[in-house]
This record gives sequence, C-alpha cells and structure tokens, in this order.
Amino acid sequence: MKRSSSMLILFLFLLIIIPCDHAIESPQYTVALLATDFEIRHYRNSTWMSAALQGTSFEKSTQEGFHRLYRFIRGENLNSSEIDMTSPIVTGIAQSSQGSFRSYWVSFYLPAKFQGVPPQPDPELNLKLDEQKAHCVAVRKFAGFARDDNIDGEMEALVASLDNYTSGRIAMDDKNEFAVAQYNASHHLSGRLNEIWLDVGTPVADKCQP
Ligand SMILES: *[C@@H]1O[C@H](CO)[C@@H](O)[C@H](O)[C@H]1NC(C)=O
Ligand SMILES: *[C@@H]1O[C@H](CO)[C@@H](O)[C@H](O)[C@H]1NC(C)=O
Ligand SMILES: *[C@@H]1O[C@H](CO)[C@@H](O)[C@H](O)[C@H]1NC(C)=O
Ligand SMILES: *[C@@H]1O[C@H](CO)[C@@H](O)[C@H](O)[C@H]1NC(C)=O
Repeated sequence: MKRSSSMLILFLFLLIIIPCDHAIESPQYTVALLATDFEIRHYRNSTWMSAALQGTSFEKSTQEGFHRLYRFIRGENLNSSEIDMTSPIVTGIAQSSQGSFRSYWVSFYLPAKFQGVPPQPDPELNLKLDEQKAHCVAVRKFAGFARDDNIDGEMEALVASLDNYTSGRIAMDDKNEFAVAQYNASHHLSGRLNEIWLDVGTPVADKCQP
C-alpha cells in the first residue's frame, strides 16, 4: 500500500513536471561570487510551504515531506486551489547533538501568484508557511541522486572550499544546519542537479560579501 501510493505520487509528480519543464518557477537569486567549486547566491525574500519531520533518514523524510506538500499543491487547501509545481524541492537538515537523529523540513517554493497570499493548507497536512528573509547562501552543485550516504560528504566539501577560499573568514552561522536542493523528478537517471545550501548570513547593504 505504502509503496503503491508513493509510486502513484511519483507518477503524478512526473505528469506535472514533464509537459511544462520550461515554465517551472524557481526562487530568484543573483550570483554574488562564482568560484570554481562553489558559488554564493543572494536570494530575495520569498514564501515557502514547509513540512517538518523528525527522523534518521534524509531520503525517507524528503519523501514523506514531499508527499504532504504534494497533497497541498494538488488542492488539499482551504481554497481547493491547484498550485503549479516549482523547483527545487529543498530539504533542510539540522543535526542534533544525539547522534544520527535529525530534524528535517521539506520545503516547496510557492509560485509568484501565491507568494503574498498562499492558500491555507488543510490542517491535517501539518504544513507551515515559511517566510524567508533575503539571505546569502553558499552553494555546491552535485550530480546523481542526493542520498543519505553522500550528502554529508558534499556538505563537508563545501565547507572545505569556503574555508580555503576565505581563509576561514566567512561567517558560517551553523555548520550543523544545511539544506539539500533537488531539481529533478526521480525518473531522470542522468543529468540530475542537486545542491548543498549553506546559509552564510543576511545581505549587508543589499550585498552578499564573501
Ligand atoms: C519581501 O519584501 C518586500 C519588500 O520589502 C515585501 O513587500 C514583501 O512582503 C516581502 N515578502 C516576504 C515573503 O517577506
Ligand atoms: C481563499 O479563499 C478566501 C475566501 O474565499 C479568499 O478571501 C482568498 O483570497 C482565497 N485565497 C487564495 C489564495 O485564493
Ligand atoms: C584554494 O583556493 C585557491 C584560490 O583562493 C584555489 O586556487 C585552490 O585551488 C583552492 N584549493 C582547494 C583545495 O580548493
Ligand atoms: C534537472 O534540473 C536542472 C535544473 O532545473 C536542469 O537544468 C536539468 O536539465 C534537469 N535534468 C534533466 C535530466 O531533466
């Protein structure tokens, strides 16, 4: 039952994503710094819908969170509004002090049409509106599938790049908190794009200074 319902979701997700790949909206940013193996982006303020989870698995949490968000965008909201798919789907991860247990929040960027006044999700979906202020994000791209066994390594590589580039000067708010952005539907086996996002502060005078 669980498996077949997640296959159905995947299938529907593909149906939405394939025909209008060109029209998919994403959060807006400008590139403040472009280095060989990372970049720093300045994201504008934006509104997201978010599903919070506790657990040990990034993959499982992302799937469960996406499931709840998917029901919301398919109309399980107080206005019965259908909401266009956007990308990426972003999974935030906060490491707890006790071993492998982590907090996750899976987030969906609301299309421009709903940025100001999103429909209220059905309460049983337990979603929260996430209004993000403008912020600076260090980004490392990686290919393939984002998995439990590769995201920590990608995150460490990003931190190493930042340390090297700025000789440790950069203000990393909290290395125990980062996010994984996934841009492609699961059926794309090659040409996949994922990113590690690490918050590196708020813009000063509307600029992200590396
Ligand atoms: C973003 O900033 C603009 C201008 O300050 C403001 O009007 C808008 O409400 C903000 N949006 C969010 C999601 O915070
Ligand atoms: C949702 O419905 C309410 C009441 O009918 C309306 O005031 C509001 O504008 C609608 N919101 C959206 C996002 O459509
Ligand atoms: C460290 O940064 C310098 C530029 O500041 C770059 O040339 C070099 O390749 C970097 N080394 C590593 C290991 O990233
Ligand atoms: C994956 O998403 C990225 C970013 O939207 C896009 O450039 C790339 O073409 C996509 N890959 C596939 C196989 O569709």
